[in-house]
Amino acid sequence: MDYNAAKKYLEENGQEQLLRFYDELDEAGKKKLLDQIESVDMSLLGLLEHNEETAGRGKLEPLSAVTVKEIELNSARYREKGLNAIKAGEVGAVLLAGGQGTRLGYDGPKGTVNIGETRTLYIFECLIKNLMKVTDEAGAYVPLYIMTSDKNHEETAAFFREHEYFGYPESEVAFFIQDMAPSADYNGKLLLEEKDSLSLSPNGNGGWYASMAKTGVIGDVRKRGIKWLNIFAVDNVLQQIADPLFIGAVLDKGVVCGAKVVRKNDPDERVGVLCLEDGSPSIVEYYEMTEEMRTLRDADGELAYAFGVILNYLFSVEELDRIVNEKLMTHVVEKKIPYINEAGEHVKPDKPNGYKFEMLILDMIHLVKNCLPYEVVRNREFAPIKNKTGVDSIESAKALLKENGVTL
Ligand code: UTP
Repeated sequence: MDYNAAKKYLEENGQEQLLRFYDELDEAGKKKLLDQIESVDMSLLGLLEHNEETAGRGKLEPLSAVTVKEIELNSARYREKGLNAIKAGEVGAVLLAGGQGTRLGYDGPKGTVNIGETRTLYIFECLIKNLMKVTDEAGAYVPLYIMTSDKNHEETAAFFREHEYFGYPESEVAFFIQDMAPSADYNGKLLLEEKDSLSLSPNGNGGWYASMAKTGVIGDVRKRGIKWLNIFAVDNVLQQIADPLFIGAVLDKGVVCGAKVVRKNDPDERVGVLCLEDGSPSIVEYYEMTEEMRTLRDADGELAYAFGVILNYLFSVEELDRIVNEKLMTHVVEKKIPYINEAGEHVKPDKPNGYKFEMLILDMIHLVKNCLPYEVVRNREFAPIKNKTGVDSIESAKALLKENGVTL
């Protein structure tokens, strides 16, 4: 795209500000900016005009989980099935580490945060150690695919190299880079991050499998004959990865997907709940549920919509291949977005200043044929690090790690 075409294109979309510093740029900078303008998806801006949350839901019904009690009763069978699948090389894991962790406000990939007190213990290290408990027991490795973004790829890959993959074999680890999306201010104007580049950010965790396909890393999954992928977030330091019991339960029930869930503390807890929507699995947010749904009880007096997701899923690769080309909804999310202002100065906001566009993994759940909610004990498997202080912070996660016998 040349300058005139870009100018016309931007004028049609009310985005001329992107060329504000064009004349100051050298040839390479001009080309970079024009290339980015050409590839930006302007249709995303249309999403700012209507509120996605009013789109409405289908018929919602509770979906019962395999509970902690049931898991305990069947643990030997589940464990054996899960370990056998791992030993047969049928299980891979996908670490979602492409996010920017803006709420934590840490400069660098979230996984590189040191949460140790008397020793170093990086978040990535903690996750690898959790995985190694399983691979040691199985006597077989689980190939690990790590999703990064253009923003943190170099740093993340270098960190793993520098720390020798925390004892995990390098041959069992592969990185892939997710796609990016533009950001807009509250007036719907796309932001610049530099004079020669748009403010681009990772396009959410929903595109992870499409990105595995696009980057070619899926070839490794196929070559190895992996049938199941366990997807997990970078920030839950207590989670069990490639958990044999979870894998075993999913195999035992003959479903194509499983989701680790925790029982809600109270009807009003703000978590996404796994349920059925028009007969298919679906995750509804707290604010989408009516008071009646939130407080509904089953025959045993337990909350009917009781199970919140913790971003740890097991998907059959066959099912992922079936749904990979289905379009996921794009969510508009308010975030703190660094940008350059009209004077060309860098601004690093300390509160949200605009919108990013993200696809979310939770929307994938509605596409799969079925999904088994698998209950885990919250205090043993859920210690997310999202915020600087308070709820779901480094502090709260550390306390939970200690409670579970981890030396910090
Ligand atoms: P979060 O929803 O916590 O998003 O991600 P975030 O962007 O990391 O953090 P905030 O909201 O800005 O504070 C949940 C998981 O999904 C990954 C994250 O790395 C984390 O493991 N993720 C998120 C991606 O891999 N890519 C993305 O584009 C977004």
